[in-house]
Amino acid sequence: MALIFSPLLLFLSFMCFRLLGVMPFTVIMSDSGVPSALVDGPQTGFSMNKDGARTDTREQEAVYDIMRATGNDWATDIPDVCRGRWHGIECMPDNNDVYHVVSLSFGALSDDTAFPTCDPTRSHISPSITKLPYLRTLFFYRCFSYNPQPIPSLLGQLGATLQTLVLRENGHVGPIPIELGNLTRLKVLDLHKNNLNGSIPVCLARMTGLRSLDLSGNKLTSIPNFSFPILSIFDLSQNLLMGSIPSSIGACPGLIKMDLGHNQLTGPLPYSIGTLKNLMLMDLSYNRLKGPLPMWIRSLISLQTLILKGNPMGPTPIPSDGFDGMKGLMTLILSNMNLHGPIPSSLGKLPGLRVLHLDGNNFNGSIPTSFRELESVSELRLNDNWLRGPIPFGREMVWRMRRKLRVHNNSGLCYNANSGLEDSGIGPCDTPRP
Ligand SMILES: *[C@@H]1O[C@H](CO)[C@@H](O)[C@H](O)[C@H]1NC(C)=O
Ligand SMILES: *[C@@H]1O[C@H](CO)[C@@H](O)[C@H](O)[C@H]1NC(C)=O
Ligand SMILES: *[C@@H]1O[C@H](CO)[C@@H](O)[C@H](O)[C@H]1NC(C)=O
Ligand SMILES: *[C@@H]1O[C@H](CO)[C@@H](O)[C@H](O)[C@H]1NC(C)=O
Ligand SMILES: *[C@@H]1O[C@H](CO)[C@@H](O)[C@H](O)[C@H]1NC(C)=O
Repeated sequence: MALIFSPLLLFLSFMCFRLLGVMPFTVIMSDSGVPSALVDGPQTGFSMNKDGARTDTREQEAVYDIMRATGNDWATDIPDVCRGRWHGIECMPDNNDVYHVVSLSFGALSDDTAFPTCDPTRSHISPSITKLPYLRTLFFYRCFSYNPQPIPSLLGQLGATLQTLVLRENGHVGPIPIELGNLTRLKVLDLHKNNLNGSIPVCLARMTGLRSLDLSGNKLTSIPNFSFPILSIFDLSQNLLMGSIPSSIGACPGLIKMDLGHNQLTGPLPYSIGTLKNLMLMDLSYNRLKGPLPMWIRSLISLQTLILKGNPMGPTPIPSDGFDGMKGLMTLILSNMNLHGPIPSSLGKLPGLRVLHLDGNNFNGSIPTSFRELESVSELRLNDNWLRGPIPFGREMVWRMRRKLRVHNNSGLCYNANSGLEDSGIGPCDTPRP
């Protein structure tokens, strides 16, 4: 793997700096760029009672600026911000008992959090943010919605320390600034639900320590060929992404969740996805991905949830052994994919299956009797197909699913007496249908 990554990274790093018009860049391998050591874990004003301790004065002035810029002028009355007793600020002392700001959070995330709220009509991120040389976490939630502004490129200057950057539902506009590629220590990047447009910058690939990348709910148009060695959460859903899914995705071996749903992605699923042995959730719904259904899906041994609905992959069948051996699979959603032919009886042999949606396809033939063995299934949609013959489930299974069993609009399905299916929208088997 290392052989694959390093040249790619060097290339990407070089690209970034070429774009920025700066000198070529060398990969930082050690922690040498980090400011001097802090002691203890982060603490808030509540836990800080040390006499004689004080907040770094430059950082204090910077915090006042940042608070004023979000409409929190009250903060300037606080003589020592690290002891200001408000949630949303965390500080850590150094060896000289000087406190440094390590975390700032804004916005009413839930009833339980009491971070300072922002005045959404006039807030902005103060440039003084760059005067916090120990900052590890920066969190803004619903802060700039009525004063739409780009993500400030100066956030790229926080690269030496920043590990978590969350800018959620802030109404940010314009592209993702390439300067963010400078945040090479980032573990969490969350830009969910803004109005960011343009392509996802290639230089984000410099964030080689990234564990969670959430760019969902924007207007981003393309995915670069990047690879993140320890990324586990990858969410680019609800954008305007075009083109194919880059095969470099296979070089993110730590992926647990991949959500690319609700985009305009085309082409077949790259074969390399089959190497993601930790993948538990894959949602590629509502794209324009091409079939056939790949056989390598079976090699996703950790997969629990697979959602492919709304991709016109057909006309194509489900291979008779297409999902064999996927013991962990609990949710399989294959609605509206123009799938044809019979429903393979092997689907009834998936022991963990709880939710199975096969509705809105062109399946014909009968419902496999093996479906009786789906003991955990609580939701089954077979409606809007061309299925025929009796429904093979017993009364108990029908009752377990209740309204979550959908079988209407099939050409010739019927129910046997006493199966509990009288209200399901289909007729009994013993009377001939008109
Ligand atoms: C990138 O980070 C370095 C320090 O790590 C800083 O000197 C430089 O200004 C940053 N560049 C940008 C464009 O933010
Ligand atoms: C991004 O959106 C801004 C308006 O918010 C617009 O001016 C700009 O042209 C858009 N860029 C792209 C690449 O669509
Ligand atoms: C990704 O790489 C492939 C082949 O290496 C290339 O054809 C494709 O255009 C690249 N995609 C992007 C978005 O750079
Ligand atoms: C199901 O449809 C296919 C065409 O898609 C047809 O070849 C096959 O004979 C049909 N099977 C049944 C049982 O109707
Ligand atoms: C019934 O199902 C078929 C097959 O999916 C579909 O083409 C048709 O539109 C459906 N009819 C209604 C009324 O939804």
